[in-house]
Amino acid sequence: MQTPCGMEVDETLYGNIRMTDVIPTDGRTLGRCICIITGASKGFGRALAHQVCCWLKPGSVLLLVARSETLLQELKEELKGFAVEQQLLVNCIVADLSTQKGVNEAVRVARLESEKENDHVLLINNAASLGDISQFSSFTDLDVVNSYMSLNISSALVLTAGMLQVFPRRPGLRWTVVNLSSVFATEALPSWVLYCTAKAARKMMFSVLAVGEPNVRVLSYSPGPLDTGMQKDILRMTGVDNHPFPCKDSAVKLMKLLLDDDFASGTHIDFFSV
Ligand SMILES: NC(=O)c1ccc[n+]([C@@H]2O[C@H](COP(=O)([O-])OP(=O)(O)OC[C@H]3O[C@@H](n4cnc5c(N)ncnc54)[C@H](OP(=O)(O)O)[C@@H]3O)[C@@H](O)[C@H]2O)c1
Repeated sequence: MQTPCGMEVDETLYGNIRMTDVIPTDGRTLGRCICIITGASKGFGRALAHQVCCWLKPGSVLLLVARSETLLQELKEELKGFAVEQQLLVNCIVADLSTQKGVNEAVRVARLESEKENDHVLLINNAASLGDISQFSSFTDLDVVNSYMSLNISSALVLTAGMLQVFPRRPGLRWTVVNLSSVFATEALPSWVLYCTAKAARKMMFSVLAVGEPNVRVLSYSPGPLDTGMQKDILRMTGVDNHPFPCKDSAVKLMKLLLDDDFASGTHIDFFSV
C-alpha cells in the first residue's frame, strides 16, 4: 500500500498502530510543507524525519537541525532516493541550538525558503538533553543550570518565535508546532530537577503559544520510553531499565496525530494514549 505521496508502507505493527492504519483514506497529507526538525541527527528526531517524508507533497522542504554534520549528512543520504523521486528538498543545518548563533543560523536558512509556495509550516522542537541527574542540593552553579535551560527551554522559545516571524500567519497557510515533551513535564522525579523543570516549562510555554496564536496548531507530545542514547544514559546513570520502544513506533503515532489534526491546540498527549 502507498501513502498519498507515493511511499510504499508495510503491515508491520508499530506499538498498536500499523502504518497502513495511519494512511488517511481521503488522501490527506502534510501538504506542500516546510518542515523543520531539531535534533534530527539521531534518536527520535532521525526516525521522525523518515516518517515525515512519507507525507510531504512534492515541492516540500525538510530542514534537519543538529550539531553533528556527519550524522545529518548520513540521514540526508538515507532520504535521498525518496526525496529525488518525490521532489523534496532536504537540507542540513549544522547548529548548536544552545547558542544565539545556532538559533540564528536555523532561522536564516528557513528564511531562504520562505518565498517558496508552501501551504504548511511544521516546526518540530525535538532537540533536548537529559542533563545532570544529581540531587537537588548539588546545583549551586548558576552557569551550569543556565546552560542546561538555554538549550532545553530558551532555545525552543527563541527558535519558535523566529520561525513565526519568518512565516507570518495568513489565510491558506497551516501552521503547526510540536513540542517533544515527557511524562516528566507533569511528574516530579527525585534528582531529575533539570529535566523535569525544563519539560514542565516547555509544556507551559507552548500552552501560552496556543492561547495567544489561535491560527497556530500546537501539540506537546510525550513520546514514551525510546531506544535512544538518552535511555542508554538513564540506564547507565540510574540502573533503571524503562524497556524502551523503537523510535519508529512512537514516530508513527505522532504522524497519526498530525494527519488526523483533530487534537485541541495546546494539548499534551502521551504515546500510551494514542
Ligand atoms: N528517549 C526517551 O526515552 C524520551 C522519553 C521522553 C521524551 N523524550 C524527548 O524526546 C526528544 C528526543 O529524545 P531522544 O531520546 O531522541 O534524544 P537523543 O537521542 O539524545 O537525541 C537528541 C538530539 O538532539 C540534538 N541536540 C542535542 N543538543 C543539541 C544542541 N545543543 N543543539 C542542537 N541539537 C542538539 C542531538 O544532535 P547532536 O548531538 O548532533 O547535536 C540529537 O539529534 C527529546 O526532547 C527528549 O526529551 C525522550
